[in-house]
Amino acid sequence: MEALEPTTSDEAVASTTTPDAPIINLMDYEALARAQMTATFWDYYAGAADDEVTLHANRAAFRRLWLRPRSLVNVKTCDLRATALGAPISMPILAAPTALHGLARPEGECATAAGVGAAGTLMVVSSSASRRIEEIAEAASGPLWYQLYIGGFAESEARVRRAEAAGYRAIVLTTDLPRLGHRERDLRNHLGFDSITSLRMQGAEDVEIAPEDFVGDALTWETIDWVRSITSLPILVKGILTAEDALLALEHGVAAIIVSNHGGRQLDGAIPSMEALPEVIAAVNGRVEVYVDGGVRRGTDVLKALALGARAVLVGRPILWGLAARGAEGVSDVLGILRAELDRAMALAGRPTLADIDATLVRRSREEWTHP
Ligand SMILES: Cc1cc2nc3c(=O)[nH]c(=O)nc-3n(C[C@H](O)[C@H](O)[C@H](O)COP(=O)(O)O)c2cc1C
Repeated sequence: MEALEPTTSDEAVASTTTPDAPIINLMDYEALARAQMTATFWDYYAGAADDEVTLHANRAAFRRLWLRPRSLVNVKTCDLRATALGAPISMPILAAPTALHGLARPEGECATAAGVGAAGTLMVVSSSASRRIEEIAEAASGPLWYQLYIGGFAESEARVRRAEAAGYRAIVLTTDLPRLGHRERDLRNHLGFDSITSLRMQGAEDVEIAPEDFVGDALTWETIDWVRSITSLPILVKGILTAEDALLALEHGVAAIIVSNHGGRQLDGAIPSMEALPEVIAAVNGRVEVYVDGGVRRGTDVLKALALGARAVLVGRPILWGLAARGAEGVSDVLGILRAELDRAMALAGRPTLADIDATLVRRSREEWTHP
């Protein structure tokens, strides 16, 4: 097997370079997945828009936050149990919606749903899944939310109704894709819309862009009212990065907000999610749940996000690494590693329950600290 280059997401953290090296952390799964995937599919998962500045900035933002641990707190048992819109979950970590799990494994999202359920948490299923809404629901053992891209109104309505009928518990309207971001790795690999379409696995429904009747670039805040008119499920918006938009989302009656820059895949130069989180938390002022995603790779990252006020985090790429490397088992293992890391971080920080995690736990440093 050829030697692996340093991982793209976290070069400072050593990861395995041989297939039989022990799996210790998520970056080890990244290396394993990369070794098993074709370069083109790997780039589709790993890549982001333009210069990939926001992709890397998402990680860097965590490094600017320092933890202020408390001593001599009894942390014999740490309680990680949480709820997401009322659904009990084993920990405040969810699976973000990501497209085309079929590029990692033929079972695609069915395996992911089984793995996420085994870890006791919730999966957000992408509009661009490789498997049918109903099959994923059958394979799932945990709660599911359905992420919505609105290609055309009629077909979107049909998908929302199917998701509702299949038992999905919420609709996550992604707001940061009026057009597809400029993913230059995919362009160099000639992975355009047509080739993605031709790569769809059997039973695939949709892909990340719908070229013919795509209305995503004409959506407005009123679109949330339209979604409400077609479903009784709670509606979340995903892709909010400003207090202004958080307030508009509240005006339009959303049940929750996901602070996200789409893992750097849309507007390059967009503010890192963890930098945007405090202003959204302040604007929302406890009225709805606020989630965050982008660059969560460590239990300490989760701890920092919770300290800044997030209800829970979502993880995107690491779920795909687990899936590519080891199928459903890999997905649950990735989540299990994060869970163990969060548990340890809570103990070492003297914060044994989620309620103990507050803003006094973090201090922001002015400049970024980098490994020597
Ligand atoms: C390969 C890939 C596909 C994605 N597809 C979708 C999608 O279909 N819908 C969506 O709302 N977000 C999508 N996202 C964004 C994720 O939901 C999430 O915001 C992002 O991956 C979080 O950053 P992380 O990968 O650093 O954890 C995708 C991300 C990746 C990496």
